[in-house]
Amino acid sequence: MKNNKTVLITGASSGIGYELAKLLAKERYDLILTARRLERLKHLKESIEATISDIKITIFSEDLSTEHAAEDLFKKIKQENLNLDILINNAGMGDLSYFSEANIETLSKMIHLNILSLTKLSRFFISDIKNSPAGAIINIASTASFQPVPLMAVYAATKAYVKSFSLALETELEEDKNNKAKIICICPGVTQTEFFANANANPLGLPEGFIASSEEVAKFTLKTIQQGKSGVAVHGKMNSALALLSRVLPANLSNAISLYIMKKLIRT
Ligand SMILES: NC(=O)c1ccc[n+]([C@@H]2O[C@H](COP(=O)([O-])OP(=O)(O)OC[C@H]3O[C@@H](n4cnc5c(N)ncnc54)[C@H](OP(=O)(O)O)[C@@H]3O)[C@@H](O)[C@H]2O)c1
Repeated sequence: MKNNKTVLITGASSGIGYELAKLLAKERYDLILTARRLERLKHLKESIEATISDIKITIFSEDLSTEHAAEDLFKKIKQENLNLDILINNAGMGDLSYFSEANIETLSKMIHLNILSLTKLSRFFISDIKNSPAGAIINIASTASFQPVPLMAVYAATKAYVKSFSLALETELEEDKNNKAKIICICPGVTQTEFFANANANPLGLPEGFIASSEEVAKFTLKTIQQGKSGVAVHGKMNSALALLSRVLPANLSNAISLYIMKKLIRT
């Protein structure tokens, strides 16, 4: 049965966002899907509509690594008279390289996409979300948010921002007695998506069992949303253990382990 709630998913054209769109459609959420590749979004909309007919799916192409993109997206959604119950800030990119050799334009786009657009969308939609009894902001961070990651220095720092921002916002909203909105920060570990190829990385250097599928991470995200609790949620037992370890190990040892792993991932 239709649930009359609307969710915006950024980065819905592939990977975790794509799988989340399919799962949330099955839960009968109305969907607003965005990414740069419009053809992919059209195809996803059509494939969902082939089996589920009682939800509304709206798609927008937007490059969230550019100035004013978050504003444009907000305006387009409001022009359609849509209000959000749930915002899923999922779109993100990485870059695996030695910082001294990194492309500055790539780094700027990453900071814009992973930090600035996520922050602006949260700010634009916070009133919608606070006014909804089912309101939630879901920020997709990463286990990279738990410690510095050599060779992905900027990416890990953007994800540390996402976690810190999410926790601070959660605490602010707890003070507001009328607020029912939840702030959830999801931390996936290594997940088999287009992320790695786009980030100049190859996860095949990692041991079996270390790599999750995008379906698994999407299911975990949906389950966490349904539990209705704010906070940080790490996907997988191994990732939870590693996140804990990064807090108890001396920083230089944790960073050295991180560097060892990242060297196995870099495409040469
Ligand atoms: N894969 C992992 O191992 C892993 C681990 C931890 C966290 N994460 C996080 O999970 C999230 C989803 O990534 P994924 O693994 O599912 O990777 P993915 O398959 O590469 O998906 C990324 C999504 O973001 C969109 N996107 C990328 N650049 C964009 C831009 N400039 N403007 C608008 N949309 C853009 C992409 O669509 P278009 O290309 O069509 O724009 C795509 O839909 C990211 O935030 C990532 O940091 C991934």
